Amino acid sequence: MSTRVAVITGSNKGIGLAIVRALCKQFEGDVFLTARDVGRGEAAVQALNAEGLKPMFHQLDIDDLNSIKTAADFFKEKYGGVDVLVNNAGIAFKMADTTPFGIQAEVTVKTNFFSTRNMLTCFSELIKPGGRVVNVSSMVSVRALNQCNPDLQQQFRNENITEEELGDLMQRFIDDAKKGEHKQCGWPDTAYGVSKIGVTVLSMIHARRLSKERPNDGILLNACCPGWVRTDMAGPKAPKSPDEGAITPVYLALLPPGAKEPHGQFVSEKTVQKW
Ligand SMILES: NC(=O)c1ccc[n+]([C@@H]2O[C@H](COP(=O)([O-])OP(=O)(O)OC[C@H]3O[C@@H](n4cnc5c(N)ncnc54)[C@H](OP(=O)(O)O)[C@@H]3O)[C@@H](O)[C@H]2O)c1
Repeated sequence: MSTRVAVITGSNKGIGLAIVRALCKQFEGDVFLTARDVGRGEAAVQALNAEGLKPMFHQLDIDDLNSIKTAADFFKEKYGGVDVLVNNAGIAFKMADTTPFGIQAEVTVKTNFFSTRNMLTCFSELIKPGGRVVNVSSMVSVRALNQCNPDLQQQFRNENITEEELGDLMQRFIDDAKKGEHKQCGWPDTAYGVSKIGVTVLSMIHARRLSKERPNDGILLNACCPGWVRTDMAGPKAPKSPDEGAITPVYLALLPPGAKEPHGQFVSEKTVQKW
């Protein structure tokens, strides 16, 4: 049997690094720490080596389609696909950042939603039977959804929403934000929150597609929240350590063979949440 492989995006620090650490201990196969910056990635690999762990490394910038395709080709060639994919890479502007809201919306939705979508587009067919896909979203997505106007809420909860329609909605948010009209158009005042609505709904769309197109492959795909975690993104006041933040993503990445659920859900504290 070929070697199993797990790939984690944005894993040179924070929750991603903690997910790599946990999978190095618990996953039977090769674990790939990936980073957009090779220097930061290799430094993170060395830090885990010093703990006696042996992750592998591949460059992967989710904002760069060529980088995604190069990585996808590598995993296809070397491993014949991927067993576990954790889409963890994400960004957030700091509260104090004075960048205009329209730009924050564009930049945040680009990485967190559109680039994660590119990852799923390029890696979906590589996911092997029995594979697990985990998209790191946030509880903030649930809060932001509940702050959308009723029409938007209905669209984001619609089980028939297509990936294209979701992409159009994300683009509409960016356009409305750039015009300074997002609030009057029914959007919440959070670019990060809307980007994570996109990640959660995208996960549900991809899970439904897997169930339809590969019903016998036993692949489970979910979105999750790691909790509020002490990282460069969330700051020092958060209650959870990165290793604690990794617990739910790792639980979803290691759902046992033959498990049928959760699938297409938003999961927090290892528990399916209402969307
Ligand atoms: N911390 C929390 O409380 C919390 C709560 C809910 C959800 N989350 C989510 O959890 C995930 C990890 O967050 P974190 O708190 O660990 O943040 P973090 O410490 O800022 O780490 C983010 C990671 O993503 C990487 N990244 C950003 N853009 C990338 C790109 N284009 N391509 C590849 N990697 C990229 C960063 O790489 P660089 O080092 O090169 O910048 C870094 O490794 C994010 O999706 C975040 O939204 C976090």
